[in-house]
Amino acid sequence: MMRSIAYLLIIALPIVLGQSVIPPSTWNYTYPWPVKYHTLTSQRLNLSMAYMDVHPNVTEARDTIVLLHGKNFCGATWEDTARRLLAHNYRVIIPDQIGFCKSSKPPSYQFSLQQLAFNTNVLLQSLNVSEAKILGHSMGGMLATRFALMYPSLTTHLILTNPIGLEDWKALGVPWRAIDLLYADELKSNYTTVRSYQQATYYVNTWKPEYDVWVNMLVELYRLPGEGEAFAYDMALTTDAVLTQPVVYEFGLVKAPTLLLIGTKDNTAIGKAWSPPEVQAKLGNYSVLGKETAEKIPGAELVEFEGLGHAPQIQDSERYHAALFEWLGRVG
Ligand SMILES: *[C@@H]1O[C@H](CO)[C@@H](O)[C@H](O)[C@H]1NC(C)=O
Ligand SMILES: *[C@@H]1O[C@H](CO)[C@@H](O)[C@H](O)[C@H]1NC(C)=O
Ligand SMILES: *[C@@H]1O[C@H](CO)[C@@H](O)[C@H](O)[C@H]1NC(C)=O
Ligand SMILES: *[C@@H]1O[C@H](CO)[C@@H](O)[C@H](O)[C@H]1NC(C)=O
Ligand SMILES: *[C@@H]1O[C@H](CO)[C@@H](O)[C@H](O)[C@H]1NC(C)=O
Ligand SMILES: *[C@@H]1O[C@H](CO)[C@@H](O)[C@H](O)[C@H]1NC(C)=O
Repeated sequence: MMRSIAYLLIIALPIVLGQSVIPPSTWNYTYPWPVKYHTLTSQRLNLSMAYMDVHPNVTEARDTIVLLHGKNFCGATWEDTARRLLAHNYRVIIPDQIGFCKSSKPPSYQFSLQQLAFNTNVLLQSLNVSEAKILGHSMGGMLATRFALMYPSLTTHLILTNPIGLEDWKALGVPWRAIDLLYADELKSNYTTVRSYQQATYYVNTWKPEYDVWVNMLVELYRLPGEGEAFAYDMALTTDAVLTQPVVYEFGLVKAPTLLLIGTKDNTAIGKAWSPPEVQAKLGNYSVLGKETAEKIPGAELVEFEGLGHAPQIQDSERYHAALFEWLGRVG
């Protein structure tokens, strides 16, 4: 009797509590270093967060740095930066956020920058990381800002590479777009749509064959058997989260020494695609936004890359990393 009640509890409780296990992704894309998984229970789901944790070839790393990917990217996109950091004896931790890349893709999830920052902190706690530099690109930069606000004692330094969220798009007139419509947009993603977006925003209307790898990586995720639709839906939910949850009003509260690395030809703005022309004209002027943000974050330093777009670390790796290591050597 006791045994059957116990059995009933084990089987029935997760169902009563609405808990489900969402396994890590089956995506077989080869990452540059071994991928590990941290399981976390969040929003009644048991989820797996994929990450790489790479130690330099010295007895003791000088510091830990966490690299946060953007919305159209994955941890693997950081390979070039991570190799250079390892050569400078940093320990490099590179998560894939929940909903992205090799991590679990829940069929639905209350995405917020706070939730993703919390998940990232749970991962770092599991690795006993109590201090780290946080470097984020694009959505990862917006997330890095939120992380720095939520975990100021962990965040020793903040580095933002063409972060989004430097303006409040909705306050500037971007209309709210229903999640179902965002999902329909996401489902249309293919090589042509992804490339034309990246060409116009990331690479200042130029194209090199080596950019294709990041387009094909994303297209694979949208096409992934059994997961592509969940990925597209998670991307729609993420768009809604970044559009509705500005960080721009809180830049003054950032405590960490901050570096802004800004390609000034970037024109990224969430919702620009479905905004009227007079609103579009006001959005995403990074030659202005970088300077404005550097004024708002106490003591922030700004490095502007003339002629580079949304992904300066890819478009001109040498120039980008020279600026990064100059600052790390002097400030961090
Ligand atoms: C989810 O994880 C929690 C904590 O590890 C565990 O107690 C629970 O049984 C798990 N739920 C399912 C459905 O596996
Ligand atoms: C990944 O899976 C696809 C489709 O099943 C297959 O064509 C491809 O060769 C696999 N790639 C790797 C690196 O295993
Ligand atoms: C450390 O050295 C080994 C052997 O030389 C090499 O295979 C590995 O890639 C190096 N790891 C890093 C992080 O540089
Ligand atoms: C973290 O620290 C605890 C307590 O010192 C230890 O038991 C655990 O093995 C450590 N975990 C890692 C991943 O280092
Ligand atoms: C992508 O979809 C568009 C229509 O949405 C179509 O015109 C284009 O040919 C497609 N490209 C590829 C590579 O499938
Ligand atoms: C961005 O703003 C600057 C300063 O107001 C202006 O000169 C420039 O034309 C704007 N760029 C775009 C693409 O609108």
